[in-house]
Amino acid sequence: MQAAVLKSLSHPLVVESVAAPVRGSGEVLVDVVAAPVLAYANEVFNGARRYSIELPLIPGCGAIGRVLETGPDATRLRVGEWVFCDPTVRSRDDARMPDIVLQGWSARGDGGLQLHRYYHDGPFAQVIRVPTENAAPIGEITAEEAPQWCALNTLLIPYGGWLAAGLAPGETALVSGATGHFGSAATLVALAMGAARVVAPGRNAAVLADLVQRFGDRVVPVMLSGDEQQDRQAMQAAAQGPIDCVMDILPPSVSARTVRTAAMTVRPYGRVVLMGGVGMLGADDLALPYPWLMRNNITLMGQWMYPRTAVSTLVGLIRAKLLPLNHFDVTAHPLAAVNEAVAQAARDAGAFRMTVLRP
Ligand SMILES: NC(=O)c1ccc[n+]([C@@H]2O[C@H](COP(=O)([O-])OP(=O)(O)OC[C@H]3O[C@@H](n4cnc5c(N)ncnc54)[C@H](OP(=O)(O)O)[C@@H]3O)[C@@H](O)[C@H]2O)c1
Repeated sequence: MQAAVLKSLSHPLVVESVAAPVRGSGEVLVDVVAAPVLAYANEVFNGARRYSIELPLIPGCGAIGRVLETGPDATRLRVGEWVFCDPTVRSRDDARMPDIVLQGWSARGDGGLQLHRYYHDGPFAQVIRVPTENAAPIGEITAEEAPQWCALNTLLIPYGGWLAAGLAPGETALVSGATGHFGSAATLVALAMGAARVVAPGRNAAVLADLVQRFGDRVVPVMLSGDEQQDRQAMQAAAQGPIDCVMDILPPSVSARTVRTAAMTVRPYGRVVLMGGVGMLGADDLALPYPWLMRNNITLMGQWMYPRTAVSTLVGLIRAKLLPLNHFDVTAHPLAAVNEAVAQAARDAGAFRMTVLRP
């Protein structure tokens, strides 16, 4: 099969013929029809993000495809079925605290690295081998719709955060990083889940205006000044009432102070979920005042990715037309143009833009 291989952090990907993966028990082979190229793929591939990966690697993170082959443990999955290849692979030998690897993308800790050595290759290839539970059915689609359905890969992340924080219909949410790729998706998902209002702070007036144009007055934009007190007051005023739930999904380049500014807008008894990359490349720690957390009964949580069950309920929101995928503007490239796709994804970063490979 053809695959794009990362052989060194100082060279571009090489598209070449490699041996097709062989299915073991507890695994499924999937014909990859479309695979998203994340905006910061270039920073993973050149080592700037310092991701824990071993080379050579067929990279990628998530895909839409059709089941080619199932194993004896698959009781419902059928050959030919459309699936989302969930990159979130969890170890199976400790149900309480599984290690996680993002197949083809990144690992966390020693256990994650061990998993990365086995569930190594990602979807920048014609075929991918995934654990059976990671081939999540999405229902019937056409091959032409597969690139658009790659938006699942983006949407599932903030969905995981809102589920963790228990966002309820009728609540007011705030997204710190609302103008970014994942932050804008967090806004879309919160509205689909029934949030009454989403406060969207940012520095980019054009993207904030675009959010309001897309979603109407359930989104309240706030132009950030950089002054902590002033910005917090502006966000709280924009909410026109208590903010029930705050999600932070800012990238590593942003200071912890910006996170704190937004986190501390939450109401007493509110929830704050941290999902961004802040501090991953060093920087000040998030100094939240102990008495503020304690006296206000604040729940603060971190969330990496989403539970397995999130795929089917998110697909349910899409199928119910509560969450339209056509917000995403998709550019597709053939596998042979993978390096152009990586460069384009970086140029085309941001809200509701997606670059996709069609292997
Ligand atoms: N937890 C998970 O499971 C998970 C999964 C995937 C990714 N992530 C994380 O999500 C992060 C965000 O990714 P992304 O692709 O959405 O990034 P992005 O598109 O580059 O978004 C950047 C966002 O940060 C804002 N920002 C940048 N510098 C700022 C500053 N100094 N002050 C205030 N806001 C600032 C931008 O606002 P402006 O428009 O004002 O510039 C924009 O809203 C990634 O870095 C990654 O670590 C987490």
